[in-house]
Amino acid sequence: MIITIYSFKGGVGKTSISVNLSLTLGWQVYSNDYYSPLEDVLPKERFKKYEPNEEIPPYMGKDSLIFDFGGQIDFRIIPAILQSNFVLIPLINEIIDIRVTISTIEAVRELNDNIIIVVNRTQKDDFQQARKQILEHYDYPIFEIKKSRAISDVFKTGKSIQAMVARGGLKRFNYSSIDHQFQTLIKHIIINR
Ligand SMILES: Nc1ncnc2c1ncn2[C@@H]1O[C@H](COP(=O)(O)OP(=O)(O)OP(=O)(O)O)[C@@H](O)[C@H]1O
Ligand SMILES: [Mg+2]
Repeated sequence: MIITIYSFKGGVGKTSISVNLSLTLGWQVYSNDYYSPLEDVLPKERFKKYEPNEEIPPYMGKDSLIFDFGGQIDFRIIPAILQSNFVLIPLINEIIDIRVTISTIEAVRELNDNIIIVVNRTQKDDFQQARKQILEHYDYPIFEIKKSRAISDVFKTGKSIQAMVARGGLKRFNYSSIDHQFQTLIKHIIINR
């Protein structure tokens, strides 16, 4: 299985979602980021960074793969999207973000219509608001990932949210709802692949 996580907008959580999925499921991650924080978190054999002019060969590995592609113009996104079972488009509930998300969806759906929307970093009614706006235009599945310290903790500890919750204690208490949101997203991906 191959998933591309992509948006024209920066800072929407592409890398954060990539790292937790990779740590939870043991998936590979390919990145085109000039500097990727994943270099410090993921085991070497599970992460590859492609330099700006480096060709990305068609993926033949047997593990599943995530393309975490930063938003700069990079034509290698096209074969990545074409190879993918799903394109996951994260957004944050801000006016500018919704607009950029719609442009992203318009561009992606020309290549691959298996789109999953993730409203990330939600608080209060962010999810309902963003969902309503997206549903006015599209009927792609939409998931929520709340704003949580769990994300920075993943980068700090190199552990998936699921693993932190499994260890119990306060983290189980604080992170179980974001863990549940990730599990819901993962279930959808696995069932519908
Ligand atoms: N659910 C969340 N809760 C709290 N903080 C989050 C969440 N998701 C992302 N962040 C934070 O938001 C910032 C941007 O996230 P991230 O780097 O994953 O975005 P990106 O889309 O990969 O950005 P870029 O376009 O620069 O590659 C980071 O500081 C990250 O820790
Ligand atoms: Mg990133």
